[in-house]
Amino acid sequence: MDNVSGEKVPVENVKIFDTTLRDGEQSPGFSMTMPEKIRMARQLESLGVDIIEAGFPIASPGDLEGTRAVAREIKGCTVAALARARRDDIDAALDGISQAKHPRLHTFLATSDLHLHHKLRLTREEALEAISTNVRYARQHCAEVEFSAEDASRTEINFLCKAVKAAVDAGATIINLPDTVGYAVPEEYAAMFRDVIAFLDGAPGITLSAHCHDDLGLGVANSLAAVQAGARQLELTINGIGERAGNAALEEVIVLLNVRQAKLGVTTNVHLDKLYATSRLLTEITGAPVSPNKAVVGANAFAHEAGIHQDGILKNPLTYEIISPEAVGVPKRSLVLGKHSGRNALRAALVEIGYTPTAEELDQCYKRVSALADEAKTVSTRDLLAIAHQVMRKHSSETALTAE
Ligand code: KIV
Ligand code: ZN
Repeated sequence: MDNVSGEKVPVENVKIFDTTLRDGEQSPGFSMTMPEKIRMARQLESLGVDIIEAGFPIASPGDLEGTRAVAREIKGCTVAALARARRDDIDAALDGISQAKHPRLHTFLATSDLHLHHKLRLTREEALEAISTNVRYARQHCAEVEFSAEDASRTEINFLCKAVKAAVDAGATIINLPDTVGYAVPEEYAAMFRDVIAFLDGAPGITLSAHCHDDLGLGVANSLAAVQAGARQLELTINGIGERAGNAALEEVIVLLNVRQAKLGVTTNVHLDKLYATSRLLTEITGAPVSPNKAVVGANAFAHEAGIHQDGILKNPLTYEIISPEAVGVPKRSLVLGKHSGRNALRAALVEIGYTPTAEELDQCYKRVSALADEAKTVSTRDLLAIAHQVMRKHSSETALTAE
């Protein structure tokens, strides 16, 4: 496979599990109607994710309906539904995915002492029993079962291994080790994956999955660390939406794995050129814009204002861009005319609006643009048209007078 730099590298596939419609949708300000969920799910399918987590059906009748609708609609990838490790939850989730072409039942139980003691009031032994019983039940009704050890990154490692073994023995083939509260640092998150894989003797037939929250801004870094330690499924959301500070952002992880493919040796089935449209669709549906400086999809991600950078970009985009805007579906890079811009960027902007300035005209335009940018921060195309018109018209009438 080629990366964006055209290099040929041996690669292993990492499955992308999108949880925008579940972990993302359950966070404040991101709820979606059923038609919106279906629209988003279709976009995710065409983006090329491998699994769409459509909802948490026990949570509400609307969530169940939304999951059913996505399961009916989506045929090109697996549709998963979430359930606590309880029979009534699992039954609701099974109902949600009953019409899916490729269904997956995703069940979870917290494994850290903190959650077991204070939230679930279960002993470790009772937790192991609940995992075995409920994963087995789920497996009897669905061919593909994923088990998540909630709060795995704060779980004592020996107990985590026992919990994982209980799930595997009961029939789970995908084991997710979430950093539920975004607490882990990359090195320890990776070590946890290595320990669990070693405990499972290399985990033949089992896919290890990472699910990272962004409370300390480490969601993407931890997802990367997990891949380097052997995880082959990543749970992500578009624009990084999700509980509290959100989940690792899908677009950032995908571009990272692509741009650094030669180093990392992994690839995904995601079509990079659909990332921007997918991000925009989510923004349109939820009304929640992404920050302008957000990696990959933010308004400034491919905008250049500093004169030195603009000059470099015009000579060779690789000087200041490690990925081209077109590769991720951004219509075009923009050279923003502001007080830091240089003459080369100004000339390019003038040519784009139909003017070919002489050196003197460029100089005059430059002075006016700089003066305006000092007051107005940036110079719009309309401002530029006005300046160009004044300078070039004045100039051409002066030339005409001299000729007379
Ligand atoms: O963050 C988390 O632990 C979760 C699980 C339910 C997978 O969202
Ligand atoms: Zn989560």
